[in-house]
Amino acid sequence: MRFFLDTANLEELKIGASWGILDGCTTNPSLIAKEGVKFEDRVREITEIVDGDISAEVLATDAAGMLDEGRKLAKIHKNIVVKVPLTRDGIKACSVFSKEGIRVNVTLCFSAGQAILAAKAGAYVVSPFVGRIDDTGADGMQLIRDICLIYKNYSFETQVLAASLRTVNHVIDSAKAGAHIGTMPFKVMDGLFSHPLTDRGLEQFLKDYNKAFSK
Ligand code: G3P
Repeated sequence: MRFFLDTANLEELKIGASWGILDGCTTNPSLIAKEGVKFEDRVREITEIVDGDISAEVLATDAAGMLDEGRKLAKIHKNIVVKVPLTRDGIKACSVFSKEGIRVNVTLCFSAGQAILAAKAGAYVVSPFVGRIDDTGADGMQLIRDICLIYKNYSFETQVLAASLRTVNHVIDSAKAGAHIGTMPFKVMDGLFSHPLTDRGLEQFLKDYNKAFSK
């Protein structure tokens, strides 16, 4: 499973990259706005930190505008994956991009039917939003399972990028379901390290060692 950070914050990305387990980054207009910086500048800065896929989302809502923006974004760096929303125009743009060899992340996916459309349009990845489905009282993880099964049934090459992961268990359950990628906020990635028995065990090892050899 590839691990992406869902952030446009450079400090978080630097720490994730320093751990050696960071495979990419996803951004969206809300995350960029939170940083208060110019979109293309921030995308460029991210390419200098992250050695892997970097999703950059178009702001246009019509296919022609998405194609225009997406082609410019793709030119910034070879690792850029153009992100488009799962709308009729987004799918139309995705079909064109995939024929041009531009990799696309189709985002805001909330149903298996939408995920089939993304795969048929040649998306590189599809992003089902687990947490936002959970917010409605439905089971977000079931969507990940359904999409993985459908893609396997038809040998679709589109990868499942489990997004809107809010907890460590979301990451683990996505991995169990077979999602190719999980994108998560920094605090969730950081949380994957934590276990009280690891802390307690390490403390005991050091205590025993020091007791034996500190005389
Ligand atoms: O990758 C999508 C993500 O940014 C949405 O997460 O927590 O705002 O639903 P969230």
